[in-house]
Amino acid sequence: MNDSLIIALSKGRIFKETVPLLAQAGITPLDDPDTSRKLILDTNQEQVKLLIVRATDVPTYVQYGAADLGVAGKDVLLEHGGEGLYEPLDLRIAVCKLMVAGRVEEKDKPTAAGGSGARLRIATKFVNSTRRYYAEKGEQVEVIKLYGSMELAPLVGLADRIVDLVDTGNTLKANGLTPLEHMADISSRLIVNKASMKMKHQAVREFIDNMTKAVQDRS
Ligand code: ATP
Ligand code: PRP
Repeated sequence: MNDSLIIALSKGRIFKETVPLLAQAGITPLDDPDTSRKLILDTNQEQVKLLIVRATDVPTYVQYGAADLGVAGKDVLLEHGGEGLYEPLDLRIAVCKLMVAGRVEEKDKPTAAGGSGARLRIATKFVNSTRRYYAEKGEQVEVIKLYGSMELAPLVGLADRIVDLVDTGNTLKANGLTPLEHMADISSRLIVNKASMKMKHQAVREFIDNMTKAVQDRS
């Protein structure tokens, strides 16, 4: 295959968990984003490059064709909306859950607002998913956008609940919070630019097939 392939992914958890799958597909990065300041990484295959971008920016790079492919959490894709993208493969990495959480004391209350008529206030960086979730339940809530440290919000009276990612539950527990409602199962997905799927069909198809095999071989 002669077509170049540009793959966008974030450093940290997603990079670490994607590298073994790439290795099984015959691709090895020549730099480590934890030690290198480079944002375009060469690989052992001259035609394959990796772009290191923020996790939330991966779908944007792929949507606009700055990258042919990307690895993004389902949480990020649900927020982005998936426009201009194909999502052909669940990589089954970075597995966690998107959940509503609140203070332990409120575990058995149906809603923090109770019968008072006040709207429940939800702090989250997942604003679109949260609005959609409560709209589907027919509950009117006030969504407060935060960029991190969501767990703090219920402790200082900024919000009644948070919507955040939960894996072991340790972060919630350490802050006196508990999971209340399961919103979605999350794992990272391979995403593909729609034009690249057509224009670089052979190279993209081969890459998807190799990654599919790598995922199957691990389970
Ligand atoms: P940014 O740096 O852009 O704010 P981030 O801090 O969310 O992104 P990571 O923490 O590396 O970046 O998370 C990347 C993805 O990994 C998330 O989008 C989610 O799909 C998944 N993830 C996040 N936290 C966990 C966790 N505790 N366990 C498993 N997977 C997780
Ligand atoms: C993620 C997420 C939660 C935590 C959940 O944060 O935002 O805070 O993991 O994991 P747990 O249930 O196993 O405690 P991360 O560790 O990625 O740090 P971040 O907030 O810097 O993204």
